[in-house]
Amino acid sequence: MLLSSFSSSFSCLVALVLLVDAVLAGDPFAFLDWKVSYISASPLGVKQQVIGINGKFPGPTVNVTTNWNVVVNVKNDLDEPFLVTWNGFQQRKNSWQDGVSGTNCPIPSGWNWTYQFQVKDQIGSFFYFPSTNFQKAAGGYGGTIINNRAVIPVPFGMPDGDITIFISDWYIRDHKELRKTLEDGGDLGVPDGVIFNGLGPYRYNDTNVPDGIAYETINVEPVLFEPGKTYRFRVHNAGISTCLNFRIQNHNLLLVETEGSYTVQQNYSNLDIHVGQSYSFLITMDQNASSDYYIVASARFVNATVRDKVTGVAVLHYSNSQGPASGPLPDGPDEADTYSSMNQARSIRWNVTASGARPNPQGSFRYGDITVTDVYVIVSKPIELIDGRWCATLNGISYISPATPLKLAQQFNVPGVYKLDFPNHMMNRPPKIDTSIINGTYKSFTEIILQNNGTSVQSYHMDGYAFFVVGMDFGTWTENSRGTYNKWDGVARCTTQVFPGAWTAILVYLDNVGIWNLRAANLDTWYLGQEVYVSVVNPEINTKTDLPMPDNAIFCGALSTLQNQQSHKFKFSKASSLINLSDIRFVWILTMWLGVLVL
Ligand SMILES: *[C@@H]1O[C@H](CO)[C@@H](O)[C@H](O)[C@H]1NC(C)=O
Ligand SMILES: *[C@@H]1O[C@H](CO)[C@@H](O)[C@H](O)[C@H]1NC(C)=O
Ligand SMILES: *[C@@H]1O[C@H](CO)[C@@H](O)[C@H](O)[C@H]1NC(C)=O
Ligand SMILES: *[C@@H]1O[C@H](CO)[C@@H](O)[C@H](O)[C@H]1NC(C)=O
Ligand SMILES: *[C@@H]1O[C@H](CO)[C@@H](O)[C@H](O)[C@H]1NC(C)=O
Ligand SMILES: *[C@@H]1O[C@H](CO)[C@@H](O)[C@H](O)[C@H]1NC(C)=O
Ligand SMILES: *[C@@H]1O[C@H](CO)[C@@H](O)[C@H](O)[C@H]1NC(C)=O
Ligand SMILES: *[C@@H]1O[C@H](CO)[C@@H](O)[C@H](O)[C@H]1NC(C)=O
Ligand SMILES: *[C@@H]1O[C@H](CO)[C@@H](O)[C@H](O)[C@H]1NC(C)=O
Repeated sequence: MLLSSFSSSFSCLVALVLLVDAVLAGDPFAFLDWKVSYISASPLGVKQQVIGINGKFPGPTVNVTTNWNVVVNVKNDLDEPFLVTWNGFQQRKNSWQDGVSGTNCPIPSGWNWTYQFQVKDQIGSFFYFPSTNFQKAAGGYGGTIINNRAVIPVPFGMPDGDITIFISDWYIRDHKELRKTLEDGGDLGVPDGVIFNGLGPYRYNDTNVPDGIAYETINVEPVLFEPGKTYRFRVHNAGISTCLNFRIQNHNLLLVETEGSYTVQQNYSNLDIHVGQSYSFLITMDQNASSDYYIVASARFVNATVRDKVTGVAVLHYSNSQGPASGPLPDGPDEADTYSSMNQARSIRWNVTASGARPNPQGSFRYGDITVTDVYVIVSKPIELIDGRWCATLNGISYISPATPLKLAQQFNVPGVYKLDFPNHMMNRPPKIDTSIINGTYKSFTEIILQNNGTSVQSYHMDGYAFFVVGMDFGTWTENSRGTYNKWDGVARCTTQVFPGAWTAILVYLDNVGIWNLRAANLDTWYLGQEVYVSVVNPEINTKTDLPMPDNAIFCGALSTLQNQQSHKFKFSKASSLINLSDIRFVWILTMWLGVLVL
């Protein structure tokens, strides 16, 4: 009796503290309403079904500031289940909102579901996209901007404009047909094109580009006075599997940020952007206006015939331009040269003196001084048949998504859904299909080596974290490879490339409790099982390191009997809109006193 009344007042206290935490900080809310549906569009001049958000492809840009709360009510008007994931929003303590098959039941067709999370302690450029059923191949993606808080200086002057650009390889076949091809062991083949913000190539050459395709034009102000207006271009490769070289004729790309980190500022004439990666460039309009200029995204590591067939071309148009862009496209790098591409990747470094989401410099987290305690060498192999199914594996295991999401199985102790036995190296045993995940150690500094044993370049993404890219090289990783690591200014990001026959090493501090997806960002091999989850559990259970399950959680699989109709509303947003500031002060004082009493 005594015990139960103590525990109920204690949980009440916890609830109050949480409420006060959420409200006292006065962090603003962004409320978004999204309808996800098929729309008809012709990205490559041929009408097809594309996934739009509020009727648009690409979808709306989410533009928020560090610490804001984001509430997104997603209505699924597709004919199949849907989940959106936030590629790079770190979802601190909150894998309930991550929107991947291991954390959330899919939103059934015709239902809506409200995501709510805080963009805690992060800045930068990211994008969101559908995470299941190969739907990303049909679009459904859009940009995300997380601005610095006003008190934190940005390491460059305020740009004159902020422009989001999506580049992606594209097929005219719809996503259901594409995934069927993969399931049947087929290769998707050469993409039909590369699109810019959902539009096809500008007709730079009558042979390579048919007539009548709508293309993207980026309108800018010209040089009014030296040295000209400067724009921030946030460029995302939201494609399926093609690495793209991005460049703008006669203009330098000053790289300043990638996936939430300010980089050392360097000029590039072109940059390889791998699937899932995001970069910010400052681009100064310092050329004459005698013509428009080409913006190019060309396929990497394919032969020239394929490259020319699929090159994406948009137009940079100065407002006083005298005429269209003409002549050949600006040259990109040599198609086959992975060495220069790797060197370029290594040249991208962290600006250790710039402030990121916090006032102290990014480099004050001295990752190079921290002792690594856990090591995983994760080997990816080309697609193979396992038990009659076409699969892609990591350390010989092709991940299969259970009917009950991992996160829910963990919450409700549903037995037999997953095993915490993902091996830390390639085992000498036949490959298998399994739900085997990494048992991460809370607050351990973990080294992950991604070894690509296939023949095409890959990229890997980890949800919930930014990791340090400390090394990459050709050949097989060995312990001696550690001697080449960058222990000082390796960039912290969430998506890194891994070249064929090569490895990339990342370091990650597992301080974010939850179940987090680590995957091949290449949609084809991800779809065929090239993913794993990392479970990070704080042995001292508390709501400060892992937020409670939201009351609108959808149940499925072994827990589907818990699901009734959908008419829940998330507590925080309701409470915060009802309580005014004087109430909050009162509640705060009350909790302080209760806290003292309990102690
Ligand atoms: C994002 O919002 C801020 C205000 O919060 C505004 O200054 C900025 O122009 C917006 N950026 C874009 C790209 O809309
Ligand atoms: C569905 O949307 C309605 C408002 O349109 C909202 O009240 C309700 O909470 C949403 N349901 C879920 C589960 O998010
Ligand atoms: C257009 O491309 C074709 C094939 O790549 C090339 O042979 C031709 O010279 C190009 N035409 C022009 C005008 O550049
Ligand atoms: C980058 O190039 C621009 C010219 O486009 C130049 O003004 C600037 O100084 C260069 N910046 C760096 C860091 O090299
Ligand atoms: C404008 O710039 C282009 C490219 O740098 C150059 O070829 C052209 O001669 C310039 N035109 C004028 C009028 O300065
Ligand atoms: C270029 O690559 C494509 C696809 O891999 C292949 O079908 C074609 O034969 C190659 N062409 C040349 C000239 O090597
Ligand atoms: C790094 O950031 C600082 C701002 O803190 C800035 O002054 C400096 O120019 C940046 N350095 C480079 C190389 O980008
Ligand atoms: C997972 O790791 C924790 C320590 O971090 C350990 O206590 C636990 O036994 C491990 N679980 C399994 C199933 O190996
Ligand atoms: C893949 O692994 C095999 C066996 O270890 C090795 O012989 C082969 O060179 C590797 N291929 C690549 C592309 O790394």
